[in-house]
Amino acid sequence: MSHIGNYDDARKNFTWEISEKELGYVPGAVINIGEYCTDRICRMGKADKLALIWEGHDGHVKKYTFNDMRQLTNTIAAFLKSNGIGDGERVCLFMDKVPELYFGFLGVLKLGAIAQPLFSAFGADSLLTRLEDAGTSVVITQKKHLAKVRTIVPQLPTLKLIVVVDDDGVKPLREKEVAFHMDEAERVDSFDIFPSLAETPSVLHYTSGTTGKPKGAQHVHYSLISQYITAKYVLDLHDDDIYWCTADPGWVTGTSYGIIGPWANGVTQCVTDTGFKAESWYRFLETMKITVWYSAPTAIRSLMKEGIDVVKKFDLSALRHLCSVGEPLNAEAVLWSQEAFGRMFHDTFWQTETGSMMITNFPGMPIKPGSMGKPFPGITAGVVDLSTFEEITTPGLVGLIAIRPGWPSMFRTYWKNEATYQNKFKNGWYLCGDRASIDEDGYYWFVGRDDDVINTAGHLVGPFEIESALLEHPAVAESAAVGKPDPVNMEVVKVFIALKPGIEANKMLELDIMNFVRKKLSALAMPQDIEFVASLPRTRSGKIMRRVLRAKEWGEDIGDISTLEND
Ligand code: WT7
Repeated sequence: MSHIGNYDDARKNFTWEISEKELGYVPGAVINIGEYCTDRICRMGKADKLALIWEGHDGHVKKYTFNDMRQLTNTIAAFLKSNGIGDGERVCLFMDKVPELYFGFLGVLKLGAIAQPLFSAFGADSLLTRLEDAGTSVVITQKKHLAKVRTIVPQLPTLKLIVVVDDDGVKPLREKEVAFHMDEAERVDSFDIFPSLAETPSVLHYTSGTTGKPKGAQHVHYSLISQYITAKYVLDLHDDDIYWCTADPGWVTGTSYGIIGPWANGVTQCVTDTGFKAESWYRFLETMKITVWYSAPTAIRSLMKEGIDVVKKFDLSALRHLCSVGEPLNAEAVLWSQEAFGRMFHDTFWQTETGSMMITNFPGMPIKPGSMGKPFPGITAGVVDLSTFEEITTPGLVGLIAIRPGWPSMFRTYWKNEATYQNKFKNGWYLCGDRASIDEDGYYWFVGRDDDVINTAGHLVGPFEIESALLEHPAVAESAAVGKPDPVNMEVVKVFIALKPGIEANKMLELDIMNFVRKKLSALAMPQDIEFVASLPRTRSGKIMRRVLRAKEWGEDIGDISTLEND
């Protein structure tokens, strides 16, 4: 039986107080996410229940109970504290999906510090931009990523400490670097958890926009109220579930629904540190007997490509609920999942900034394949006119997705960038920066982003970051990065490049440029296609018209560009 019951009734009766009450939170009291996900679950009689079943890329499996997790998160918090790190400081988690990443995240929160998870595939430049902006004090990392961190240390005056979780002593650690072995460390049974209040900062997640550097969406401990109840209602988590969220905690899905939501519900999670491969994913689902699975459209489309016969080789009968997030989930993928797993993927829509699900397909609600579903009860959403920001009430008309501010997990600012934050609010709405329409039954249909951000495999990549990196390449005079359609990843990065005078375009140069971006930023940001051009289309004021280039890639009508030219 799903928790939510009938959607219309839930909409009428729901208040965030329901979540507060279930969590035993009263306004004004202490609310520390680290405590809620570990100590509280132990007090509820689940100390010996498995919290994490982890599988490494070599097939090695480790299991941790909620009591293990409680002690290990204490141990990490105490270790940081003994190294002089205190509340409010930014602690970056820069690791693959190893247990230290998950427990480190909660340990940082127990200390009252701000967790700043960054995708371990980031190159040195991507890392530097984000650590510099956040004024980060600590980076917790693995040996394999240490070289990247070391190259940027001289540019990070605020960095006090680099913690290496798997140091083997082979290459000596340097100044500021310390080794910490979580599984072998003496466990700390009791730690003085920081008495965070609702508005105490918790997590800083960096996200990309059209202009400027990536921005740090700053969340607070009160976000738990949203994350707990949405995980329960939408992911339909029950006590006996075995849950798998495929997202990396470098991105918000991996923290809100790969750490906080499920563990605040006391649910067992599985994590695999292997990359994507259809057969190994099915095998993981089968051996772990996963019941609830939260994944992304790119992964689903990749599975589709491998065909239905592969699925049928595995016993996936434990699976009972599937959800998806990150990019448009096409109707074909929903229908395929019905055929492959006997269940439809339930699409959910939200963002780094919203901290929790906004528009969702609830368990039990009829799914219209291709639709994102309806607003979560407690969320007031709409679509508004592109220029007046007045609500559009005519079904089917496209507008901007807008949410009434005030839900618990709303970001509280962009780190050191309040002006950009304020700019996201218009006419009493928070604007997501996406376009959609609502049909006569109240279902939302995604149309596209309202800005130039590229969504590749569910990850946002800012064109500005790519263009800035390209400017450092000796052959590049100017460039524009846009999303190009891709059957699996939805979009991949394409760049248009005008070369410096006298430089000839050729295949070698193309590969060199691709590699240059991959190393500096990440494989996600690496252009899959480069087109050399004599010059780039510009507005009269000199801004590059990425939208014109993008429309060409998508075979869309460019429309009236006279306004763009006057931009
Ligand atoms: C952007 C947010 C929070 C999830 C991970 C991404 C796009 C997200 C959907 C969906 C169509 C979607 C939007 C959104 N997006 N979910 N179900 N259908 N588009 O978080 O990196 O902050 O990206 O991802 O464009 O604004 P994010």
